[in-house]
Formats: sequence, C-alpha cells, structure tokens
Amino acid sequence: MSRIVVTGGLGFIGSHTVVELLSNNYDVVIIDNLSNSSTDVMNGIKNITGKEPELHLFDLNDQVKVLDFFKNNKDIAGIIHFAAYKAVGESVQLPIKYYENNLFSLVNIMKAVNEFNLNLNFIFSSSCTVYGQAEVQPVDENTPSQPAESPYGNTKQICEEILRDYTVSADNLNIISLRYFNPIGAHPTSEIGELPLGKPNCLVPYLTQSVAGVLGQLTVFGDDYNTPDGTCLRDYIDVIDLSKAHVAALQKLENGKDNPKYDVFNLGTGNGTSVLEVIQTFENATGEKVNYRIGPRRSGDVESVYARTDKAFELLNWTATTPLSESLINAWNWEQKIRGIKKEQNVLQSTM
Ligand code: UFG
Repeated sequence: MSRIVVTGGLGFIGSHTVVELLSNNYDVVIIDNLSNSSTDVMNGIKNITGKEPELHLFDLNDQVKVLDFFKNNKDIAGIIHFAAYKAVGESVQLPIKYYENNLFSLVNIMKAVNEFNLNLNFIFSSSCTVYGQAEVQPVDENTPSQPAESPYGNTKQICEEILRDYTVSADNLNIISLRYFNPIGAHPTSEIGELPLGKPNCLVPYLTQSVAGVLGQLTVFGDDYNTPDGTCLRDYIDVIDLSKAHVAALQKLENGKDNPKYDVFNLGTGNGTSVLEVIQTFENATGEKVNYRIGPRRSGDVESVYARTDKAFELLNWTATTPLSESLINAWNWEQKIRGIKKEQNVLQSTM
C-alpha cells in the first residue's frame, strides 16, 4: 500500500479525495492545521470508508515541523497538496496573509523533499483562476494565462511556476497541477461536505444557506453580461468527480513511463452554466424555492470561464459524470444535515 500525504485533507476537496484514496486502498496520512476545517471531518471519513487515516495537526508554514515530519516519513510515495487559503475577496484585503500561507507552505514542502531527496509523485491543487479572463472559451491547458485577478489567483500561478522550475534540474519528483473549475456538491452520504467559515462567497454554499434560512436573499451579481441570459457562465464540477481525478492523476504518475516531469490538467465538465441556470436546476431538483434578486456586478468577476477537458479524458481516462442536479441535491442534503433541518432527504429520483 503506497503511503500518500494529503495536506489539507480535512478540507472540502481534501476530505473527499481522502475517501477516494482509502477506497482505492492507499494508506493516507493527513496533514491539516484546522484553519478552515475540523476534526469532526475524521468521523465522516471513518463512517464512509470504515478506515481511519493517520492525522498530523500542524501548520505547513512551520518549516521545522515540516522538515521533521518528512525526516521521519521517508517512505511517503506521494503528496497531494491542497492546504491553502482560497477566499478570493479576502485575498484582495489581506494579500500578505495569502502570499505567506500559500507560498511558504509549498516552499517548505519542496525544501524537505529536496533536503531528504525523496522520490515521489506530487499533485498540486491549482485553479482555473490562473487563466484570468481568457479571450476564447473553453480554455485548454495551453491557453495563455492572463495576469491574475486577485492575490489568491496569483499564488496559484506562482505555485505552478515554483513546481515547474523545480523539475527543471531535479529528477526526484513527478508533478501534476490540477486546475479545478468551480467545485460544488458533497458526498452522497452527507457525511462530508463543504463547511465555509463565516459568510460564504461562493454561489452554491450561499444558495443552500439562503434556502436553509441561515442567510437572507441571494443576490445574483449582474444580469447584463454578454451571455445567453446575461448572468456569468462557470463550469461547476462535482467534488466526487474531482476526487476521482486526483486518484487518476496519481495512478498516471505511478504507472506511466513517459510522463513529463511537470504536467497540467483542467478539471471541469466542459459546460458553461449561468447563475440563473444553477438556481433553476436547484429549484427543479430539490423542490425548494430560491429567494433571489438581481443585483449589480461583483467586482473581479470574469464574464465566463469553462474548461476544455479533452486532455484529462485522453491522458487520465477521466471525465466528469455527475449531473449538476445531483451535485446540487447532495449540497442541499449536506446543508440540511449540518443545520439539523428535519426535512426529508432529497433523493436522486427527484431529478427525473
Ligand atoms: N454569484 C452570485 N451570487 C453570489 C455568489 C456568486 O451571483 O452570492 C455568482 C458570481 O458572480 C459568479 C458565479 O456565481 O458569476 C460563481 O461565483 P463563485 O463565487 O461561486 O465562484 P467564482 O467563479 O468567483 O470563483 C471560483 C472559485 C475560486 C476560483 C475562481 C476562479 O471559487 O476558488 O472560481 O475563477 F479562484
């Protein structure tokens, strides 16, 4: 059984990927500092898989602890690096917090990998934000990156560059950066899901909290974009599909002989879906009414971004399969569970 380190393994995408790794018989070691997660997530992982991954609670910004960890764990076969701050708006207000956390944590890991000359496979959690507002949609992996729209986005661009530069002279790592589009959903068991701290910025957690009565009316940010219904287009990708892509990427690195030392993949569905379509699909799938109004544009929003996914299909043998309605039902069931709402769980038949 390969031992795989998952940093940020108690977070949203991290925890779902831990479940997928355990289900594929990997031996998982989670490193998390609980900055945007909780140890309760371990119970969810255990309830789904019947397994208990190893958990190390420390901050990857602590270089001494990072070096110490890898010095004592030289048998690690792979690292999936999720741990990072991810709130785009907050990164504009607090850029140093973002640069410090997201860059130093990666540099500390790379320093340890280099110092102990560890041979391993490395998967980095990147984002479609590296494309900025591309001129043509859908974007593929060769679409030139525009200047980042936020310090958060810039950290993802810089981290990708750090990793690419590392592989120029070193032979001990094979690296894949996975560029997620808009991750949504929750595990179908409602054992794990997204737990945004404070008021969420993202559409789906805002929507589910609004319908649950935790937040007030949802504001649709602008309906005067140059899109079919005037609202922005995004590529909403289910978190279970995303977690499977991480295992596929890891297996490619484990099995492949001709892997480039550094590679990049888009992870999306290939569909551009508008904000109003998300609301409509949610209402149809769950039978709930969304209380929303049209408001002004949100600054920093790009009009449209969705993925070309051929590369992941061809080389990872991966494609997104979860319909948007199913992701939204799972997100809503999870929201009801964590709010203790005693409504009957929505079942997938309601999408038909
Ligand atoms: N939106 C609303 N109302 C809300 C929240 C969002 O109308 O209350 C709209 C936004 O204007 C946008 C769409 O819903 O059109 C999606 O917005 P999100 O905030 O959910 O997601 P973003 O596309 O802004 O951000 C996502 C990821 C980031 C990533 C970024 C790159 O959450 O991590 O894509 O574009 F960096």
